[in-house]
Amino acid sequence: MGAVGVSDPAGDSELSYGKSGFKGLVAEPYLFFLACFASIGGVLFGYDQGVISGVLVMSDFAKQFPTLSTDDTLQGWMVSVLTLGAMFGALANGPIADAFSRRWSILLANVIFQIGSIIQAASINIPMIFIGRFIAGLAIGQLSMVVPLYISELAPPNLRGGLTALQQLGITVGIMVAFWLNYGTQYIGGTGDGQSPAAWRFPLALQCLFSLVLGVGTFYLPYSPRWLMMKDREEEALSTLSRIRRVPQNDHRVQTEILEIKASALFDRETIAATYPGITSPVRLSFESYKSLFVLPHLNRRLVIACLLQLIQQFTGINAIIYYAPQIFENIGLTGSSVNLLATGVVGIINFFSTIPAILFLDYFGRKSLLLVGAVGMGVCQFIVGTIYAVYKDSWGSHTDAGWATAVFIWMYISCFAFSIGCVNWIIPSEIFPPGVRAQAVGIAIGVNWLSNFIVALITPRMLNSIEFGTFYFFLGIYPFSPPLLSLYPIYLSKQT
Ligand code: BGC
Repeated sequence: MGAVGVSDPAGDSELSYGKSGFKGLVAEPYLFFLACFASIGGVLFGYDQGVISGVLVMSDFAKQFPTLSTDDTLQGWMVSVLTLGAMFGALANGPIADAFSRRWSILLANVIFQIGSIIQAASINIPMIFIGRFIAGLAIGQLSMVVPLYISELAPPNLRGGLTALQQLGITVGIMVAFWLNYGTQYIGGTGDGQSPAAWRFPLALQCLFSLVLGVGTFYLPYSPRWLMMKDREEEALSTLSRIRRVPQNDHRVQTEILEIKASALFDRETIAATYPGITSPVRLSFESYKSLFVLPHLNRRLVIACLLQLIQQFTGINAIIYYAPQIFENIGLTGSSVNLLATGVVGIINFFSTIPAILFLDYFGRKSLLLVGAVGMGVCQFIVGTIYAVYKDSWGSHTDAGWATAVFIWMYISCFAFSIGCVNWIIPSEIFPPGVRAQAVGIAIGVNWLSNFIVALITPRMLNSIEFGTFYFFLGIYPFSPPLLSLYPIYLSKQT
């Protein structure tokens, strides 16, 4: 019901718009451009997540906010207040994206993001930093749920996985740019006492520019045809679909697709009318849709999968590396002339390049196979990292090769994350729900992702300090079970989705 048409990687079916993978993407430049453009939302996400760790260690930042630079707990809260904001943003954006469209909710998120970023870049006291990060977080949360939803509603089945995975590629670009930019701007005015405030204010301000581009661009983005149909704007839905598919309105594939979209919209409407007779208030109906996600078994099972997937993604421990890589690399003996920072930079680069195979192959191999391969790869790498860590924990200084071997397995772990659950978790929620509850359900699922992100960010530094190598075993104990667990629901994770 959620997904349209047939998935046919080879593109042979009569109803298919073409091939999957690279050839399919090249054949659809307009759609590819739209998805890349919307994925600037992912860039903002990654950038905002990545920029803060570099800013925190800058000497001028420490001079301006001495309490922050010495108080670990306060620092932890400053990093994670963004994720809390994002959780609320993701949850709130479901009804917003339904009421005002996916497109205008992207615009609203960018307006909010501008406010949050300006406050952060102009901060002269700690509350301003916290408030700025919380507000920017609200916007990041909104974008993180609506961008994959929007792309997946625009995409034809043969390209849906690859195009939606562009959001993840955007995230990795953001993390990478933030890291290398910080690495460069720390030299403005010198790294010591004379460091200029621009060293940290500039990276915080620059994100406004990306967001401005995305915000202005929303005036040129098409509406989602599925949303138009939900709002009874059938003619517009048809003309938008034929424009996006670049075929005439009477093309049999467009005709079939629009019929399918209409059928699911009607089915939804009639189910609601039959389930809640007499209720017309939009607020009440929205409340009932939320309720149905928890009480109707077929929706509830999908919600469980979508949320579980988010929880598992975060409990792979990915952000233990993304947030604390410099510290981890320093712990394993990669010290001296910024070696740890360079090793962290490599994390960003590997993360980016390893996302590309997912974009190319997700629609060939299916979501479940990539989840499985990635989980096995991550499991093996983390086991090796934890074990080398346990053996050499007191003698890294005299075993530099063990330190480098650990770094290599950390990079391989990142790579396995990037092509598997790093992408799949954004795709599945957007494609398994019927239209009437889709936005709300995706909002809840992505809210769970942010809540789990918040918890991991909070517990990791403590674990690294107390149980050290046990941190890797802890995460290892959770996610390798995820694909088998999720495959309990084969219908939804079949190759077609
Ligand atoms: C996760 C983020 C993570 C990023 C790393 C995303 O899919 O949701 O929490 O930092 O991947 O690339």
